Amino acid sequence: MPVARLLASCCCLGAPSPSSPLPTDSKKEEIMAAAAAAAADSEVITHRIVEANGLRLHVAEAGPAGAPAVLLLHGFPQTWYAWRHQMRELAAAGYHALAPDMRGYGDSDAPGPGAAADSAAGAGAGAGAGHERYTAMHVIGDLVALLDAVGEREPVFVVAHDWGALTAWNLCLLRPDRVRALVALSVAFTPRSPARRPVDGLRALYGDDYYICRIQEPGVIEAEFARLGTELVLRKFLAYRDPGPLLMPKSGWGSPDDEVPLPSWITEEDIKHYASKFDKTGFTGGLNYYRALNKTWELTSPWTGAEIKVPAKFIVGDLDLTYHTPGIQDFIHKGGFKKFVPLLDDVVIMKDVGHFINEEKPKEVSEHIISFIKKFS
Ligand SMILES: *[C@@H]1O[C@H](CO)[C@@H](O)[C@H](O)[C@H]1NC(C)=O
Repeated sequence: MPVARLLASCCCLGAPSPSSPLPTDSKKEEIMAAAAAAAADSEVITHRIVEANGLRLHVAEAGPAGAPAVLLLHGFPQTWYAWRHQMRELAAAGYHALAPDMRGYGDSDAPGPGAAADSAAGAGAGAGAGHERYTAMHVIGDLVALLDAVGEREPVFVVAHDWGALTAWNLCLLRPDRVRALVALSVAFTPRSPARRPVDGLRALYGDDYYICRIQEPGVIEAEFARLGTELVLRKFLAYRDPGPLLMPKSGWGSPDDEVPLPSWITEEDIKHYASKFDKTGFTGGLNYYRALNKTWELTSPWTGAEIKVPAKFIVGDLDLTYHTPGIQDFIHKGGFKKFVPLLDDVVIMKDVGHFINEEKPKEVSEHIISFIKKFS
C-alpha cells in the first residue's frame, strides 16, 4: 500500500532496517520491497515550507519542476494528504503537482487565537474571532502568493475538492488570469444570493442541528469533537456516506465508544496520519472556514451574478451529500450551472461513490483530471 510508504517518506519514520533480527525470507523480501518503495516515494513526493501572504504554508510537491503546474486544494477535515494518489499519477503524466496544507491545516500556519490551540486548551478556550481571517479573500490571497513564491507566473491547472472547490471557484471568479482550467470535485459553483446569507439558507433548509449551523459559534463543536476524540471524529466524517444532510444534534454526535469501521478506500494508517495532524492543530482552523461564510458573503457582493470564465470540469459521486441539496441536481443538469460557468466542459456523476471521491476512486478521478487538463497542455 502506498500509505506506509508515504508515512515513511513524510514523517521521517525512515525505511525499515534490513538488519532487523532474523526475518524469514518472505518477510525479508517484503521489507526490502517496502524500503525500495519508500525510497522511490520520497523522490516522488517532497515537502517544503513557503512564505506566502504573511504565513508559512506547507506544500507537498511531485513531478518535474518547470512542468505544467497543477495546484491541488483539499477540503475539511483533511490536508494535502487527500491528494496522495493523484500526485503520483500527475507526476507520472509529466505534471508538477503542488498540494498545500490550506491555512489552518496540517503543517501550515493557523492564524487567529483559537486555531492550533483548541485541542490543547479544550472546550473552546481562546477560540475567539480568528475566523475573520479565513474568508475567501484571505485564502485566495494565500494561493496567489503561493504561486508567486514558487515562481508560477503563468496560469496553472487547479484541482479542488470540498472546501477547496469552493475556494477554487472563487479563485476563478477573482483571478481568472491565474487559472488555466479547473477540475472541481464534489462542490459545484452556485451563485451568491444577494438576499440571503448562506448560513440562513442552510438553517431554513435543514434546521439548527445541521452541522454548518452547529459549527458557527466558536468553541461549541470543538468541545463536542474533544469529547469524541480526534480519531473518532475523523472516522465519522470519512465514513459518512448518507446522501442526507449531516446533522450534529445538541444532544451529541454519538458516543466516544462508537465504533466506526473504515471504508475500504482508507486504511488505519491513513487515519492515523490525519489524526496526528489534527491532534497537533486542532479542528478550529478548518472550522473557521465555515465561520467565515458570513464575512465572505459580505465581501463578495461586488461579484453577485458574475460568470466564471475559466474552462471547468465537475465530478461528483451520486451518494455525496452535496449532490442532494434540494435543487442542486436541477441546477447542475438543467442549464443553471452552465449559465454561470459557460466554459463548463463536462459534468461527471460517479455511481455509488460518496463525498471523498478522490480517495474513494483514486484511479478514475486521476484519469478524469489528466484527460481534461491534457486538452489545455
Ligand atoms: C452568520 O450569520 C448567521 C445569521 O445570518 C448567524 O446565525 C451565524 O451565527 C453567523 N456566524 C458567525 C460565525 O458569526
